[in-house]
Amino acid sequence: MAKQEQWTSKLGFILAAAGSAIGLGAIWKLPYVAGTSGGGAFFLIFLLFTILIGAPLLLAELTIGRSTQKEAISAYRALAPSSYWHNIGRIGVATSFLLLSFYSVVGGWIVIYFFRSITGSLTGLSHEEYGNLFGSIIANPYIAIFAHLVFMFITVFVVQGGIQKGIERSSKYMMPALFILFIILVIRSLTLDGALEGVLFFLQPDFSELSSETILFAMGQSFFALSLGVSIMVTYSSYLSKNESLPRSVVSIVGLSIFISLLAGLAIFPAVFAFGFEPAEGPGLIFVVLPAVFSQMAFGSLFLTLFLALLLFATLTSAFSLLEIIVASLTKNDPSKRSKMAWRSGILIFLLGIPSALSFGVLSEFTIFDRAFFDLADYLVSNILLPLGALLIAIFVGWRVPRNVLLEEVTQASSIGRRTFAVWLLLIRYLAPVAIIIVFLNVVGII
Ligand code: PFF
Repeated sequence: MAKQEQWTSKLGFILAAAGSAIGLGAIWKLPYVAGTSGGGAFFLIFLLFTILIGAPLLLAELTIGRSTQKEAISAYRALAPSSYWHNIGRIGVATSFLLLSFYSVVGGWIVIYFFRSITGSLTGLSHEEYGNLFGSIIANPYIAIFAHLVFMFITVFVVQGGIQKGIERSSKYMMPALFILFIILVIRSLTLDGALEGVLFFLQPDFSELSSETILFAMGQSFFALSLGVSIMVTYSSYLSKNESLPRSVVSIVGLSIFISLLAGLAIFPAVFAFGFEPAEGPGLIFVVLPAVFSQMAFGSLFLTLFLALLLFATLTSAFSLLEIIVASLTKNDPSKRSKMAWRSGILIFLLGIPSALSFGVLSEFTIFDRAFFDLADYLVSNILLPLGALLIAIFVGWRVPRNVLLEEVTQASSIGRRTFAVWLLLIRYLAPVAIIIVFLNVVGII
């Protein structure tokens, strides 16, 4: 077996982990789910889950990976030999398959918008036309499938060649650029006439509309946006050297993720209300609203192209992480199998994603449990499989991994004292599992 490679620097790890976390979750999913789930109350609950459960769980995944220095499935085996725990890794790999299959469909929409913005066919439309444009693009089966194919092709091409490191290094420039552009966008959006209503919608909690589903969605969103529950962070931290502080990495990753979620909401909702769009537009929300905001800016079409390029980049870095965990678990770090496994998995994921790609057109009437295929895949992943993975990881780390292993990993190279460690362990042992179980039971109507 090849020697376990290490990140050349802490920055390499942070960039890869943050690259996995920051993507469509914060920028596309958060605004659209907040919009359909009542706004402020959703966002507040999302924040609570992210800080009280997501952050401790992220630390839990990092301790598993770094203490064993192994990819997802083997890491559980190493900590709990001759047991069933390694199935957490298997569930993670299966979840990644399904997740990437619809993630790539949305990635494809960005590809289409990017090319359209270059050719200039995204500028100068009326607000209504932006709404119709999105609907007509994604309803076309050939375009939707082709775009999904292009996105998957790029993902496989990068992951199979192991050229990810180069991409990660470029994220040192791309991510800050994305943040800066977002801040400009937020300023433009906040200064539109009627913006305040959108700010209030997004940030002022109205608990009268709160339902058990909203809480489930907020929980799912917090795991989705931090890439938790599929053991991706286990795999990534297995490459991390022992003299880095895990808690500090958690603070950076969670902080960045919350910040970009906030920016996304503040870029979208003021404009939604100012332009008279519907907050409950659904998965097309950012594709309808953002081009309209850019059209109100000097050099808007240039900025839009740049923005879409950066968004595509952020989306790809998340997709790489999803394929990476699949490939790492199939090859067990044997480089000779890497390319073959990456292409094979990529083809399967592409095929699995086709019904999702068609869900907004020819298959829109085809529903299972009242949901089109895309919605079903998203619902299954975000609201069932990720929380399930997270629950199992919390139980595993809280109750199965020896305390001294955890103590060493968490306090290594960090200023975390025993008391903070004890609080973290309490959150992982009790709060995380109990909260996830209560949310589940609440949704199925048992409590
Ligand atoms: N965190 C990514 C995003 O917000 O776009 C999506 C994601 C990647 C979720 C990897 C889960 C995962 F394992």
